[in-house]
Amino acid sequence: MKSTLLLLTTAAAFSLVGCKDANTAGDIIVGEVASLTGDEASFGNSSHNGTLLAIEELNAAGGLLGKKLKLVTEDNQSKKGESATATKKLISQSKVVALLGEVASSRSLEMASICQQMKIPQISPSSTNPKVTQSGDYIFRVCFTDQFQGGDVLSKFALESLKAKHVAIITDVSQAYSVGLTQYFKDKYLASGGQIVAEQKCASGEKDYKAQLTAIKGTNPEAIFLPVYYGPANLIAQQARELGITVPLFGGDGWEAPELLQGANGTLNGCVFSTHFSPDQDGAKAKEFVEKYTKRFGAKPDAMGALGYDSAMVLADAIKRAGTTDGSKVRDAIAATKDYEGVTGKMTLDAERNARKSAVMIEIKAGKFAYRETVNP
Ligand code: PHE
Repeated sequence: MKSTLLLLTTAAAFSLVGCKDANTAGDIIVGEVASLTGDEASFGNSSHNGTLLAIEELNAAGGLLGKKLKLVTEDNQSKKGESATATKKLISQSKVVALLGEVASSRSLEMASICQQMKIPQISPSSTNPKVTQSGDYIFRVCFTDQFQGGDVLSKFALESLKAKHVAIITDVSQAYSVGLTQYFKDKYLASGGQIVAEQKCASGEKDYKAQLTAIKGTNPEAIFLPVYYGPANLIAQQARELGITVPLFGGDGWEAPELLQGANGTLNGCVFSTHFSPDQDGAKAKEFVEKYTKRFGAKPDAMGALGYDSAMVLADAIKRAGTTDGSKVRDAIAATKDYEGVTGKMTLDAERNARKSAVMIEIKAGKFAYRETVNP
């Protein structure tokens, strides 16, 4: 039943494209790579919704350079290797003028090497690993990096808010994000007088973390840093409490998904993570966006939704200023982005093609995400 419906919709979509051929040929085609299914589906769907909302608004306001925008999205299923394939397909078959994505740093890195080689500008909405934009001068991000998130925000949080001088860490060695965030946290935390009492590893897809947690328990940490995505964070939290580990757990933006709390039964209450945006934060632009997004999708936006929206708007602003979709001119215009008022804050892209922005701390209170504070760079 479901597949018949899908077939019908696909057929309808094809015929629509067919009869509109003359028009779509003149569209500005923007590519997007997103994890719409698989382990990090929450990231991809939020980011995609925000991106789509921006494209819809731009078209409703008349499009760009006298043309309509068309978003072509490829699902990488959260799988390794698929973002490279998707990027090649979008460039060679869909003839995109620029690419938006990905959320996860490892997958943005896959896209970046191809975009750089093909001289197609890429804007990652939310990948925080420094290496992403180091891939070359066509690669940008509209968020802060993990040097700030791990080094400044989380190290300070552990020492000053948690007053934890002894921390244990579990790193997902299969994700560039996790490896980088661990490193930047450690560098600053150790230099500021903290001690790492245990360092354990895991890999994406693992379900049993008892061995790592048992080893950690013996070292009596005052807090455990989990620079991992929401799937492992959810399981680690539950298993830690089962083993009688009661100390606070904390993490970075990778924790952000409703699935973090699935079946957690309060085990994460009082725990905190850093991210880029909260639907409860102040600011007229943020409030207006929360309203529009909620109306369109029936749920409040998270950080990925807001950053997806900002990434598309920054690209559109650059195309408008460039007056063309020529790759190198669009690249130059993105690089010149200055004081752009986004929903996640004011954006100026620095010489390393990164944005300098505030972080938002979110606390889990009574099984819900609650805005706690904003940390400025
Ligand atoms: N910063 C994460 C990464 O680089 C992705 C992420 C961004 C996750 C925002 C949640 C929210 O992999």
